[in-house]
Formats: sequence, structure tokens, C-alpha cells
Amino acid sequence: MCSLSLCLTYLCYSLMGGTGPAALRSPAALPGSAAPGAPRSPTAVPVTAAPRSPAAPPGSAPGPSAAPPRASNGSREGAEGAWLRTPLAPGEVITAQSGAFERDPQESSTTDEELSRAGSPGSRGGGSSTTPDYGEKRLPQALIIGVKKGGTRALLEAIRAHPDVRAVGTEPHFFDRNYEKGLEWYRNVMPKTLEGQITMEKTPSYFVTNEAPRRIHSMAKDTKLIVVVRNPVTRAISDYTQTLSKKPEIPTFEVLAFKNRTLGLIDASWSAIRIGIYALHLENWLQYFPLSQILFVSGERLITDPAGEMAKVQDFLGLKRIVTEKHFYFNKTKGFPCLKKPEDSSAPRCLGKSKGRTHPKIDPDVIHRLRKFYKPFNVMFYQMTGQDFQWEEEESDK
Ligand SMILES: *[C@@H]1O[C@H](CO)[C@@H](O)[C@H](O)[C@H]1NC(C)=O
Ligand SMILES: *[C@@H]1O[C@H](CO)[C@@H](O)[C@H](O)[C@H]1NC(C)=O
Ligand SMILES: *[C@@H]1O[C@H](CO)[C@@H](O)[C@H](O)[C@H]1NC(C)=O
Repeated sequence: MCSLSLCLTYLCYSLMGGTGPAALRSPAALPGSAAPGAPRSPTAVPVTAAPRSPAAPPGSAPGPSAAPPRASNGSREGAEGAWLRTPLAPGEVITAQSGAFERDPQESSTTDEELSRAGSPGSRGGGSSTTPDYGEKRLPQALIIGVKKGGTRALLEAIRAHPDVRAVGTEPHFFDRNYEKGLEWYRNVMPKTLEGQITMEKTPSYFVTNEAPRRIHSMAKDTKLIVVVRNPVTRAISDYTQTLSKKPEIPTFEVLAFKNRTLGLIDASWSAIRIGIYALHLENWLQYFPLSQILFVSGERLITDPAGEMAKVQDFLGLKRIVTEKHFYFNKTKGFPCLKKPEDSSAPRCLGKSKGRTHPKIDPDVIHRLRKFYKPFNVMFYQMTGQDFQWEEEESDK
């Protein structure tokens, strides 16, 4: 018997170190590489999954989660447009949002350009035309903290259909990239809310950011956290596909996934793979938050049973169950459930990309190897969360 932490340590070292010196060539390859802000509690073990380790192993290309290039110049133009569309008046439901959902229904990563808009003086005060004059801006009481490509955008759009939720449409990245801007900056990014309404935002990279749990805890230790998780293998491929669509010149998935393919040695320092080691990241959060304060949403069930998953989300947030099956319909062409929108003419918002968007063909052998790689971490994650996400069953079906 060992504690979860020790088990994780063991898993990491056996995975990473069991195959000889090649595995240890780069310290960055170890999920256990020490990172600033490592967990403080006595149970802390050196397995903190260091996000965005700057020391990439030799020959590795920037992974899909590499931070997008910094906006060259802080063009403030269009800032208001971007942010004014975001807040929703109560009762407006989902009719007046930006096109973000359509643009990238599964997930969208906020660019630094969008971020500079967020922090720009131009977005301050919100301009009175679309921001309601009543209510006040509050720091969020609930956050969707991850994971990238898990379905966080879909969840945000669906929960926004609830009249007691007001959410930021773009990703503020406060607890990872913009923390030095301060809480007042963060509050200012938020939509106005009335008494009783919940303010939310989603930034999927929080889940893999070492400092995020501590920072969120120091903002408000009762912050509710939501994590949308999805089969890490599918997630990794989806992550890679998104990067590929922006940077067609990157190496193949197979090349990036292995440190040494002959040895079958997975490159766990590649962000597309590292993000999916959920147990490791969760360990970091559990240093600061009790499990009861974290809701794990199945990215898979969000698609197959959106109303069921949304019921859990609303219960968790202490909201009346208002977003129900009536809010969704299944669009066969899209292959995904979509949100019904009362009296609105713009395109429907669906909980996934259309089927047309194909993933690149990945060598089945590589997928098999990845499944094996993730399995112990998945099992650990199920134990830690007390939930079986059935990613192994899904795999054996194929
Ligand atoms: C940056 O500035 C240059 C020259 O001032 C301008 O042409 C360009 O459009 C700007 N880019 C952005 C992203 O604002
Ligand atoms: C992979 O490992 C094999 C066997 O140890 C070794 O011969 C080969 O040089 C390694 N390849 C790389 C790229 O490190
Ligand atoms: C379903 O999705 C297709 C493809 O995006 C779209 O053209 C069509 O209008 C949608 N149907 C409904 C009923 O929303």
C-alpha cells in the first residue's frame, strides 16, 4: 500500500526511468522535475507536473500548447467590440454572444492579442451600449480550469444559458499569464452581475499551471472549480490537430510523441501528452482544495448526455436546474448536440466541431502505446476522483 502521492511518484519514475539513461537525458522530460511553487503540504512529492517547462528536450518541437506568440504591438482597436459582446444581460440567455462558439466550438484558445485587449484601458467600463448599467463586477465564484480540448468551451456556452450565470466569453488567463496585473484588473474583465448571479470564467491552462491553485486559493478559498476531462489520448490528438491547423509545418504526431520510438519511450514533456496526465495535475490542486470543491465533468458525456452532465454542473454550482434537455437538440449533420436558442437567427452553437474536421491519421501502434502510457495515470485519476471515466472501456471497443 502506498499513498496516492507515493504511487504517483513511483509511476512516474518507473515510467520515465525504467528504460535507461536515455529516459533521463533531459530533466524536463520528468513530470517530477522540480518547479517553483511546488506543493507545500507534507504529502507533497516531487511529481508536480511542471507546465510549460522551458527546457524542452533536444530536438523536440514546440508542442501544441506552447504559448501563442506574443502580440507584437498592443493594438487596442477592436478591444471594445471583443469585450462588449461578452456580457449577457439577465434573461438575454445565449442570444447575444460573440461568435466564439461557432468559430471554434470545441475549444478556443485566447490569443495574447485578445488578452491585451482584455487588459486595455479601452475595455474598461465596458461602454454602456451593451453592458447593462445595473449590477456590479465581481470576482468569479466558479472557474472552469481545464482541460484544453476537453470541451470547456461547450460547457461554458451551455452553462451560460442559465440566467443566474454570467461568464466572460474569452479566456482571461489571469492565474497563469496575467497574474501580475492584479485582482482589480481581473475583476474588471468580469461582466456585471446582479445579486445572486454567479460570475464565471474559463481558462483551460489553469489546470496545468503550478501556481494556479495557490493563487486561486488566495483569491477565495471557496472558489468552485470545474474540470472537463476527456480521454487523454483523444485529447492529445485533438490538441495536436489544433496546432497543426495553425502551424502546418510542425513534425508529425508520431515524431513529437516519442523521445525514442524504438524504445517506445513516450515524451511526457510534450505538452500535448503532459496535459493528459490528469492525476499529476490534480495532485497539485488537492494541496489547496478539497475534492468536494472540484467538479469533474466528462467531456465524453457532455456530448452524449449534455442535459445529464449539465444537471450535475448546476447542482454543483447551487443553481436551479434550468438548463435541461429542452435546451439541446441533436444536429445529425454536425454529429453533436446543439443549444437551442430562442428567437435568434444566428448560427446554432453546438457542443463539438462538425464531423468534417478530420484528425490526421495516427499510426494505430502509436495510439496503442499512448493508451498504455496513460492507463496507470487514468486509473490513479479514477481513484483520486472516485469517478470512473471509462476511457479504457472506450478503448477496448475499438
Ligand atoms: C502592429 O503595428 C504595425 C505598424 O504600426 C501595424 O501595421 C500592424 O497592423 C500592427 N499589428 C497589430 C496586431 O496590431
Ligand atoms: C533509441 O534507442 C536505441 C536503443 O537504445 C538507440 O540505439 C537509438 O540510438 C535511440 N535513438 C535515439 C534517437 O535516441
Ligand atoms: C445542423 O448543422 C448543419 C451543419 O452545420 C447546419 O447547416 C444546419 O442548419 C443545422 N441544422 C439545424 C436544425 O440546426
